[in-house]
Amino acid sequence: MRHWKVAIPLGNWPFIGRYMKLLSKKLRWHLAFESESDLWALFERSDTCVHKAIFGEVLLVRKDGEIMAFKNQCPHQKKSLEGAMVKDDHIVCPFHQFHFSCKTGRGHGLYIDKYPIDIVNDQVFIGKEVWTWFE
Ligand code: FES
Repeated sequence: MRHWKVAIPLGNWPFIGRYMKLLSKKLRWHLAFESESDLWALFERSDTCVHKAIFGEVLLVRKDGEIMAFKNQCPHQKKSLEGAMVKDDHIVCPFHQFHFSCKTGRGHGLYIDKYPIDIVNDQVFIGKEVWTWFE
């Protein structure tokens, strides 16, 4: 068996760095609900629900009259958080009962991505950070 060694000449690093500066994170807003009442209607039976947004599934959490949005994927074993409960300011994963903070998404040395929510003219938008070039 032949082993190959890959050598990266150090002289190339400034070249790579120049392009990395053109890459930045931007917050993109996606329309999730046409009206705020559509959003609240989802919480009739539970404090959490899953919504299919244009960029993927979102776990919506109701806590003290406020709605928060998280990526619908538990960081422990990448399972869906559908059926998660809210308990003492924490989201509880239905599979192994790991607790994640509603404020930050952190817990057990892991974290769930949290998305910002904005309501403009009664329309509900969810923000998602994306890597982008040249903006
Ligand atoms: S999959 Fe969520 S705690 Fe294990």
